[in-house]
Amino acid sequence: MDRIPEHVSIIMDGNGRWAAERGRERTFGHQEGAKSVRAVIEGCIREGVKYLSLYAFSEENWNRPQQEVSFLMDLMAREVADEMEEMLENRIRFRVLGNRGRLDPVLNAAITNLEEATAGNDRLTLILFLSYSGKWDILQAVKRLAAAKSPEEIEAMQIGDFDSWLVTAGIPDPDLIIRTSGELRISNYLLWQGAYSEFYFTDVCWPDFRMEQLHQALEEYARRDRRYGKVK
Ligand code: IPE
Ligand code: IPE
Ligand code: MG
Repeated sequence: MDRIPEHVSIIMDGNGRWAAERGRERTFGHQEGAKSVRAVIEGCIREGVKYLSLYAFSEENWNRPQQEVSFLMDLMAREVADEMEEMLENRIRFRVLGNRGRLDPVLNAAITNLEEATAGNDRLTLILFLSYSGKWDILQAVKRLAAAKSPEEIEAMQIGDFDSWLVTAGIPDPDLIIRTSGELRISNYLLWQGAYSEFYFTDVCWPDFRMEQLHQALEEYARRDRRYGKVK
């Protein structure tokens, strides 16, 4: 394919509705959604995408029923434990970004372990946004910045200088943001970083989003004209 995005980001949505359509519990949808994660990782490696980021759990998602939150956290912990070997084999670098302090300490430690073990990998960087929200990210950046810099230094800052205070420091902004399940909103995702992302919306629910659907999104991206406010 002609133009491959360097960074693909996905708002993985529609697990619950997908399950409900099949007369199953919402949790069944999350379980099947984990298979889509594997498929999309493989697809990104094949297509030559360098960064794949996935919105897995938002700050707002803590407000779901306790039973669903626990299920999602357990699923995450299982996946993190199971994927170690595969990630090392495939030279995937693993990162988790978000309000990590809200995660269970055991899960947090397992994540740190996997991040450290895969830190030297460079084929694909896989980023999971967990307990993340765009507004939270901007606020934590402002707080740390204000504590570390003098008013003069802050006054002299350029827009690009702010990037390094966000949790995504060092990661290129997403070229393409995909949202599944037909919802047409950003849901407090990468508000700063997505300023010039291309958006791709599909009615397909996340458990049905596999290699073929990823390929379609990448084909559509290749046809887009990214003007950044300029004229031809
Ligand atoms: C996405 O699917 C998974 C998470 C947000 C954790 P949903 O759970 O939001 O599924 P729907 O949107 O209710 O169908
Ligand atoms: C957005 O999905 C968050 C994730 C995919 C992790 P939601 O299902 O939580 O978003 P809303 O509530 O429909 O906006
Ligand atoms: Mg949803």
